[in-house]
Amino acid sequence: MGGYGDVQMIDENGLRMDGRTATQVRPITIETGVIPVADGSCRMTWGTNDVIVAVYGPMEAHPRKIQRQDRAVLDVRYNMAPFSTSDRIRPGFNRRSREISKVTADALESVVLLEMYPRSKIRVEIEVLCAEAGTRCVGLTAASVALADAGIPMTDMVVSVASGKVNDVVVCDLNKEEDNYGEADLPMGVLPNSGELVFLQMDGDLSPEEFQIAWDYNIQAAYEVHKIMIEALKKGGAN
Ligand code: CDP
Repeated sequence: MGGYGDVQMIDENGLRMDGRTATQVRPITIETGVIPVADGSCRMTWGTNDVIVAVYGPMEAHPRKIQRQDRAVLDVRYNMAPFSTSDRIRPGFNRRSREISKVTADALESVVLLEMYPRSKIRVEIEVLCAEAGTRCVGLTAASVALADAGIPMTDMVVSVASGKVNDVVVCDLNKEEDNYGEADLPMGVLPNSGELVFLQMDGDLSPEEFQIAWDYNIQAAYEVHKIMIEALKKGGAN
């Protein structure tokens, strides 16, 4: 959130720099089974974001100190590849990737039936190949698809979208310029079957009315994205 109000990102017709209206989601593709050695996997492109998720397990949790007697643990690792942005990222875990890994695990824990696998571990590896804003949303959404591809029992899939505010206009699914120079960013994780919310972060300022619009945009977009997820899983492979 740069919050530079002088950067014009909405034209006189209300269109955004990438040609979308305020409510439109960037184009999405989903392909499952992309990592043959994994138990489940998925590649998701969302705009120019490109993210691969591999799921391994359930397997015995090692070291034993991480084991839970009554349920499995989710071991989630979000990572941006060093070549995923124009500024080369220093390889390895940093504060941001730790935070995103944790909130992703927390959101997924609310849907995965962990109690079915005591003393086990389910490993979820999220690798961002190309980053164009909203990568935490793409990672969380793609992780849900990869877990389903692995046959892990879940009550629902998490669908995550980030809407926000740009030039005083609330817009759905922020792109890189909107994320960098906009005034607010509201990533949310929604369960489409129940309508529950399992993840919410907010950066910048929104009035209560703007917050409600961004919220509604995220929910509406989540239902759209959910359809693409279901189609990809039914089809198996590229959609
Ligand atoms: O990706 P997301 O919007 O979930 O997280 P962010 O921290 O708000 O980052 C927004 C965007 O900034 C990312 O998607 C990347 O395109 C870019 N970024 C970057 O270039 N280098 C970083 N170390 C972190 C983010």
